[in-house]
Amino acid sequence: MINITKKLWFVWRNLTFVNCTIESLQGFCYIDNLTLKNCKLINTSLAFEFVENVDAQITTKIDSVFNPISGTIKADEIVNRRGTDSIKWDVADNELPMWVADMDFQTAPEIIDALIKRAKEGVFGYTDVNDEWYDAYINWWKNRHGFEMNREWLMFCTGVIPAISSTVRKLTTPNEKVIIQTPVYNIFFNSILNNGCQVLESPLHYEDGIYSIDFDDLEEKMSDPQASLMILCNPHNPVSKIWSKEELAKIGELAKKHGVTIISDEIHCDLTMPGKDYIPFAAHAAIIRKETGLYLSSGTVYGDCGKDFLRMNVACTKANLQDGLSRLKKAIDSL
Ligand SMILES: Cc1ncc(COP(=O)(O)O)c(C=O)c1O
Repeated sequence: MINITKKLWFVWRNLTFVNCTIESLQGFCYIDNLTLKNCKLINTSLAFEFVENVDAQITTKIDSVFNPISGTIKADEIVNRRGTDSIKWDVADNELPMWVADMDFQTAPEIIDALIKRAKEGVFGYTDVNDEWYDAYINWWKNRHGFEMNREWLMFCTGVIPAISSTVRKLTTPNEKVIIQTPVYNIFFNSILNNGCQVLESPLHYEDGIYSIDFDDLEEKMSDPQASLMILCNPHNPVSKIWSKEELAKIGELAKKHGVTIISDEIHCDLTMPGKDYIPFAAHAAIIRKETGLYLSSGTVYGDCGKDFLRMNVACTKANLQDGLSRLKKAIDSL
């Protein structure tokens, strides 16, 4: 019995398992050249995303997928999607489609119940975006990511890509350049090209299995007078990188310096390994709060001609104030 730790994925190439019972949590993602002969997978979850050159004979089906919200979904809830007009599963009978991050396991029961309840109303007229929608987003980011959004910042959209495409169209004029950090989610290219703009690639640096940002290259691309926009992927698909506070701050500084607007696609923000948190690109206030334990309300600016000052309300216990203020100073200095 092998228990594959999470260390296996990402870093391994050319692996062969023969007659093995393998227990792992997403253990096979991102392995290049994987061979499984007569293997049994137990307690595994969705196993092969982004695996290159897989040759597998597995004697049991995958038991379950781990769902971070409602726990484990059992195998008998796995739906056979062949013949259901699914793009992913419209393939030959013996073909296993592993190219798209399309979910094969049933949606959480709470979501199915809510949809059934709505469908049972039986009338599908025009609807408003209600308070619950705003509250759901605001509370999720507040509780899960320590980032507070104002209601006025939110706008309903039918998907991330429609939002990115519309934003590219609105913020550029045709033929301008839009920066992306490659390799990246392929549809970013379409969102740029379909709006008459040019793709300007800033390739990520790859060394010893790790991708990082080549800031010299990024600055060079941002300083191109035709570059007006950048689409950031945070966390980054497909390199699975959660950009750090420092990296995000540096991207922000360069963008400010060269007048480039950043769109940050954060669709994968909830898919992080336990204990690893992503930082919203827009989260300077959240960073300050995380580092200081102080709760700051948005302030009012007084004065002008470069002599303005900001009045903010700070809330915390009295005992923590001194410590919090000195850490606040440190956090502000580091921004
Ligand atoms: C980075 C990224 N953005 C957007 C999407 C898709 O977003 P939507 O289906 O909401 O348009 C994906 C899907 O894989 C993705 O990886």
